[in-house]
Amino acid sequence: MTGEMVKACVIGYPAKHSRSPKLHGYWLEKYAIAGTYSAEEIAPEEFTGFINTLAERGYAGANVTMPHKDMALALSEPDARAVAVGAANTLWFENGVLKSTNTDVEGFLGSLDTAAPGWDTRTSSAIVLGAGGAGRAVILGLIERGVQEVHVVNRTLSKAVELQERFGPVIKPAGWDALAALMNGARLLVNTTSLGMHGEPPLPVTTDAMARDGVVADIVYVPLRTQLLIDAEAQGLATANGLDMLLHQAVGGFELWFGTRPEVTAELYDLLAADIEGGG
Ligand code: ATR
Repeated sequence: MTGEMVKACVIGYPAKHSRSPKLHGYWLEKYAIAGTYSAEEIAPEEFTGFINTLAERGYAGANVTMPHKDMALALSEPDARAVAVGAANTLWFENGVLKSTNTDVEGFLGSLDTAAPGWDTRTSSAIVLGAGGAGRAVILGLIERGVQEVHVVNRTLSKAVELQERFGPVIKPAGWDALAALMNGARLLVNTTSLGMHGEPPLPVTTDAMARDGVVADIVYVPLRTQLLIDAEAQGLATANGLDMLLHQAVGGFELWFGTRPEVTAELYDLLAADIEGGG
């Protein structure tokens, strides 16, 4: 029986607050799969050794979170998405070779497709706040869907300029002082910074001037509904939150390790939402 158990984990530092074990555990039970998904707290200096013995430890693969996404890319054979983003968050074995991808891209796209079906047919220009790893995954998703102009607004302008070098002239770097003008008639705004998260300053942006069929996405999920999303909803805009993205990014890894493509449902959302709201 235990010989058939498929094992996966999330590797992070810290790892104990990760919601991924609860999420994958729910799917394992729902689909009656003989598998486990645990959290492995691994310090940066131990990460390489851990990855090099992943198979020996019995793992079919893993999710990788802060601060290991860059090293995960370097230690595996990445697909085109992981290379383009410059970070990997999902690892699996194929014929003994450790492969990687970045499912934050499909996590973001899945959350938008659910919140605002057809958004990509109406959106030629988008605003992305932040130029870190999460921002790069969001930007790649937008480019894949044909968005022609991505205004990257960042505190450190040089990082937005670096993204133009990475992704090409589709990227329009800007400072925060340019944001108010960009918001006029905007169809899509994505926050990829930590602003608006519990304990962080609020995001200095108002959504009043956005197009009436505009969409606002926020990668923050504690709180579930940031002030940005509360304001956007009050104006009748479609919204996607960080939990929506978290759930959609988990689908690909689960399918790779356990062989079943799981469904993101309202019941699963409510289970994780209760956990987040309870501070668990
Ligand atoms: P992640 O991988 O989660 O995207 P990151 O690489 O540390 O994390 O990126 C965090 C992003 O949030 C950056 O764009 C950062 O801006 P800088 O490049 O100027 O550092 C942005 N950010 C974080 N705290 C911020 C703050 N207080 N004000 C403005 N931007 C902030």
